[in-house]
Amino acid sequence: MEDKIRWGILSTGHISKKFADALAILPGAELAAVASRNIETAGKFAEKYSVPKVYGSYEELADDPDIDVIYIGTPHTFHLRNSVMCMRKGKAVLCEKALTINAAEAREMVRVAREENVFLMEAMITRHVPLIKKVLGWINDGRIGEVRMVKASRCARGVFPPGARQMNPELGGGSLLDVGVYVISFASMIFQKPPVETVALGHIGDWGSDEQGVAILKYENGEIADLSFALRTAAVNEAYIFGTEGYIKIEDVFAVPTKASLFIDRVESANIEEPITGNALNYEAEEVMRCLRAGLKESPFMPLDESVQIMEIMDNIRKPWGLVYSNDNRL
Ligand SMILES: NC(=O)c1ccc[n+]([C@@H]2O[C@H](COP(=O)([O-])OP(=O)(O)OC[C@H]3O[C@@H](n4cnc5c(N)ncnc54)[C@H](OP(=O)(O)O)[C@@H]3O)[C@@H](O)[C@H]2O)c1
Repeated sequence: MEDKIRWGILSTGHISKKFADALAILPGAELAAVASRNIETAGKFAEKYSVPKVYGSYEELADDPDIDVIYIGTPHTFHLRNSVMCMRKGKAVLCEKALTINAAEAREMVRVAREENVFLMEAMITRHVPLIKKVLGWINDGRIGEVRMVKASRCARGVFPPGARQMNPELGGGSLLDVGVYVISFASMIFQKPPVETVALGHIGDWGSDEQGVAILKYENGEIADLSFALRTAAVNEAYIFGTEGYIKIEDVFAVPTKASLFIDRVESANIEEPITGNALNYEAEEVMRCLRAGLKESPFMPLDESVQIMEIMDNIRKPWGLVYSNDNRL
């Protein structure tokens, strides 16, 4: 049997807890250590998830020689700093989406990964769920002809306490980085190239970050993506891929979908249902472990240059909105 991959979790918030749940059901994974800015918080997390080693600083986790890979679950504004610190100490990194707050930071993160020759991946969950692999199979088999348009919506109807990460511009909050990244990444996955034109409207809400937005991306051969994202709107979360011969509907809930249908001449001609195992974060963790075992430094399902391109698209989307994050001009 292959040796276990030893994971460390850096930070103890909402998604780090879910990631601990995901590792618990993943064969070959060992949650070996957790770090928080506060040792007591780390201790409580360790007790709940049976983690043997506990650190009261992120640096101590990165210094642990018995950790193979570190999961970064901090707010967007800290992703660069936390990931670089871990990679400089030789650790592989799985960093939550959005990879950073802007393209300059993403380029720097990727530069360090390559300089240190360590594995790095943006935790873009959608790419790794089984349904998406089957949908890509339909497209690659030419079932809908040439893909011409994508339409996708990812909206959360959150009720956030004042200062919550999701809305706090100081922490890179707002709909674009929090949920817009899913639909932008989805369009990027389908078209496999950066857009040549971007038009976007966003609304800056009372909390000072973008409450909701829409973006239209146009690609080299006239392909178009029509994308919406929001943080306090009860919209449907689904995606469509339209081709010259037919279209695919990915049902709610996008970005972790389980059902899709294929329509030819407006008639449903096939459908697939792929239930999720666990909370789905296990799929991205599994991909990291596959890459580490194969000696890969990045995943073919979420390449690093593409993560940088996605950040470039988000920079272009928010530029006309005048939306600036706290560490936007630090590099
Ligand atoms: N893939 C998904 O489905 C998904 C879902 C939700 C969120 N996310 C991503 O995960 C990341 C974290 O989101 P979350 O909802 O888990 O956030 P959260 O609940 O606020 O947790 C963030 C954690 O980061 C640490 N942290 C370090 N510096 C901080 C600061 N100045 N202010 C606040 N927290 C700080 C804290 O851990 P310590 O106190 O232990 O240091 C905190 O618990 C974001 O990038 C988000 O986009 C992904």
